[in-house]
Amino acid sequence: MSQQLFTLDYLDTPPTAAAGAEPAQDVRVSPATRTGRQRKLYIESYGCQMNFSDSEIVSSILFDEGFDTTEQLAEADLVLLNTCSIREKAEQTVRMRLSQINSHKKRNPGMLVGVLGCMAERLKSKFLEEEKLVDLVVGPDAYRDLPNLIREVDGGQKAVNVLLSRDETYADITPVRLNSNGITAFVSIMRGCDNMCSFCVVPFTRGRERSRDAHSIEQECRDLVAQGYKEVTLLGQNVDSYKWASEDGTEHVNFAQLLERVARISPELRVRFSTSHPKDITDEVLHTMGRYENICKYIHLPAQSGNSRILKLMNRTYDRPWYEERVQAIRRILGPECAISTDMIAGFCSETEEEHQDTLSLIDWVQYDMAYMFFYSERPGTLAARKLADDIPLDVKKRRLQEIIDLQQKSSAARNHQAVGKVHRVLVENFSKRSQEHLSGRNSQNQVVIFPKKHYKKGDYVNVFVHTGTGGSLLGDSVE
Ligand code: SAH
Ligand code: SF4
Ligand code: F3S
Repeated sequence: MSQQLFTLDYLDTPPTAAAGAEPAQDVRVSPATRTGRQRKLYIESYGCQMNFSDSEIVSSILFDEGFDTTEQLAEADLVLLNTCSIREKAEQTVRMRLSQINSHKKRNPGMLVGVLGCMAERLKSKFLEEEKLVDLVVGPDAYRDLPNLIREVDGGQKAVNVLLSRDETYADITPVRLNSNGITAFVSIMRGCDNMCSFCVVPFTRGRERSRDAHSIEQECRDLVAQGYKEVTLLGQNVDSYKWASEDGTEHVNFAQLLERVARISPELRVRFSTSHPKDITDEVLHTMGRYENICKYIHLPAQSGNSRILKLMNRTYDRPWYEERVQAIRRILGPECAISTDMIAGFCSETEEEHQDTLSLIDWVQYDMAYMFFYSERPGTLAARKLADDIPLDVKKRRLQEIIDLQQKSSAARNHQAVGKVHRVLVENFSKRSQEHLSGRNSQNQVVIFPKKHYKKGDYVNVFVHTGTGGSLLGDSVE
């Protein structure tokens, strides 16, 4: 995530975002692996980091079934879209993409097309009626069944498995890292969500919350370190409610303890996590962050609204004073340099102008480093769709969203400004997009820092003195 501001509803191909149900949100295409396997898989991922992480699990399952990945749609034997349902726009994007894929399929009738992920789960077999070209519909908990389902499709049938599970965590599957820079990786620590925020489709598409075996998480992180990775992001819709117990009941691990276990693997491994729920983030987590230099000082803490009545209607189970207290706890325990970001929804059911002003005043009070901002999009089947009227006109939603964006932009600029004149420890991830003579990386606060390459390379930690803060990133020079 960078310092840029995005409103995903405005963009066709949204940018890389944070997690859980969010963060991370561009379309990602599988890169090519060429190991001489017989069939070629092309996989595109939409939505949050959880989906990208799942695509890596799917690629691993299909690799064992004889599929290499390709980045060329035209040469694919199997095309999979890992889809998102979070807002209506997300689903429209997938439908548009399916119609483009249809024209490829006309030229290559042997190509199989499958839909995975949240939209598959939401629409189930309706997908096959609505989108005739789709051969395969597979929900997020049914990926182990993909080899069987593909065999059915090879036999000329359509195949669907959208069963949700109470215990599937894919703990034993080693993901095939897609689009990887070899430095940063996502690691899923839990699946599903039990929260039932009234606007949100995720509990319906991803099922009940379950935590992955702590040992398998540690092992995956250790393996990543052995392969040269320098940063892991622990993923879940609500990481603070991570809770795992060994079968014999002798071992219990909460999120703070998991964070500590991963941080202790190596001081050279940076640890990030997302998403934190304001009702669940504990002082224990904050103190653990404070004790380990390699746990990044960045917390994605989605508020959704600054007004207590709206938060109640959203079923977020905290009110504004509670949220403010959690922000104060972050500042108290980790100091002002810990970055905080948020998600905000404009124009939720019955939101008045005064209540919208409360969202603006919260942004002003917290001074977020970054935000993902959306206008409310009613999702079929959710509590809000069943119980509340979607009564804010679209033009009002968009105007309120714009006001939120404008204010947040000032706050991000102020945070960028504060970073100038200081030395930051930067983990180099890549060349700068604009120049091969510059490197790009992030500091602990997740701000993008660009500086002249000199003798440094990908994966190095470099101390960089920042001299300029631009809109999206910080510019600086390395110091020895
Ligand atoms: N689990 C995370 C985020 C889940 S979804 C959390 O609880 O914070 C990611 C973001 O999408 C949400 O934080 C919310 O801001 C946004 N979102 C979810 N449903 C939405 C809807 N129906 N309309 C608009 N935005 C929505
Ligand atoms: Fe959705 Fe709420 Fe769960 Fe986040 S915590 S995934 S917003 S239901
Ligand atoms: Fe993620 Fe979208 Fe599903 S945000 S959990 S892919 S609905």
